[in-house]
Amino acid sequence: MRSVIDILDLSVEELDELLAVAQDIIDNPVKYQNACAHKKLATLFFEPSTRTRLSFEAAMYELGGNVLSVTGGNTSSVAKGESVADTAKTVSCYADIIAMRHPKEGAALVAANNASIPVINAGDGGHCHPTQTLADLLTIKREKGGFGLCGDLKFGRTVHSLINAMSRYRDIRFILVSPEELKLPSYVKNETLKKYGLPYVQTTDLLEYLPEMDVLYMTRVQRERFFNEEDYLRLKDTYVLTPDKLKTAKTDLCIMHPLPRVNEISVAIDHDPRACYFKQVLNGKYMRMALILKLLKEAAV
Ligand code: NCD
Repeated sequence: MRSVIDILDLSVEELDELLAVAQDIIDNPVKYQNACAHKKLATLFFEPSTRTRLSFEAAMYELGGNVLSVTGGNTSSVAKGESVADTAKTVSCYADIIAMRHPKEGAALVAANNASIPVINAGDGGHCHPTQTLADLLTIKREKGGFGLCGDLKFGRTVHSLINAMSRYRDIRFILVSPEELKLPSYVKNETLKKYGLPYVQTTDLLEYLPEMDVLYMTRVQRERFFNEEDYLRLKDTYVLTPDKLKTAKTDLCIMHPLPRVNEISVAIDHDPRACYFKQVLNGKYMRMALILKLLKEAAV
């Protein structure tokens, strides 16, 4: 049974195929409106979410399918001590496909190993978040040049998945901007940037490198992954993008953020043509539609 736990579960050809299907959905929505009729998506979200869960659910509805939803550990048998494996086996009796978010790294893999239907990882702890990367890939207009990632590169799972995906393109130079304490984990660096010999710089200085960037991917400091509130408070506002700071940036810079934003991007930037983060939200729905379609089609053969 085909599941998507890591962005690397999808080949470059499959990513291209998903991008093409998403574009076709945007151009011809009517063609897809019954594509998943009588199919059920179960969204199992054991961590807070607005965009990802609603995006999966909107995607399924727009494909003519139905949704079963569990939110928060307190309203399901997880609160009684049920394992992820048993939950996955149970939900396989009711639904055709699962999207799951869980605070523990590896939980989606455990679910996939026990479910008899496809499982899509909608974020597992600080590990990865492949469908956010699908949204990101539809938003990034070119796969070359200076690719800046800024903020919490340690705990930000969207960053880990995106670097994994972008490492497959050869004309990119990564600019990793973070406080010392929130640097990209070495396992991500070793398995991607170093493995493929991709050029990168690590810096704490956003302004020094901003003029070189074609894409700037801002992220929030992941409060829920900190052991210590004092550390969070000290680091949370390290980078705040304001119109003033953007003066030295390229005129066609693509400013992204997986959202939710806390303070990282001033609302005064929202109307700047370079702000792409709400477009990114919409793109997430189309890419999730394309992914649900693909996995259900593969499960049917
Ligand atoms: C991200 C996540 O959950 O990792 N949000 C999202 O899915 N759009 C980023 C974040 O929470 O900061």
